[in-house]
Amino acid sequence: MVADLLGYDPDAPGPVLGRPSVEEVLERAAPGDVIAARDGERAVAVVVLEDGQAFALDDRCPHDGGWLSDGWLDGDRLVCARHAWEIETCTGKCDRRPQDFVEVRRLVR
Ligand code: FES
Repeated sequence: MVADLLGYDPDAPGPVLGRPSVEEVLERAAPGDVIAARDGERAVAVVVLEDGQAFALDDRCPHDGGWLSDGWLDGDRLVCARHAWEIETCTGKCDRRPQDFVEVRRLVR
């Protein structure tokens, strides 16, 4: 098992079944929120930008597998809480490795 000093294991199965659905999260989400949810059997991070646009991103950082739902917004970029890599929320493009993407689905509120 690989875990960092805080005990974080990026390979551990995520608690997908205990997460609220994307629809449930959207009902209460406000601009600026980043919330863990499930989209079917996928773990996603629901992100609501300041202009109200909402997205569901795969909840897995392309750097080292951190939960993107633990991150925060900096403008329209989602910042991973583990090492601060940034993901362009609308496209899923990673700033440090542009060839890496996170799957994104635009949500209708
Ligand atoms: S896991 Fe390292 S920046 Fe996300």
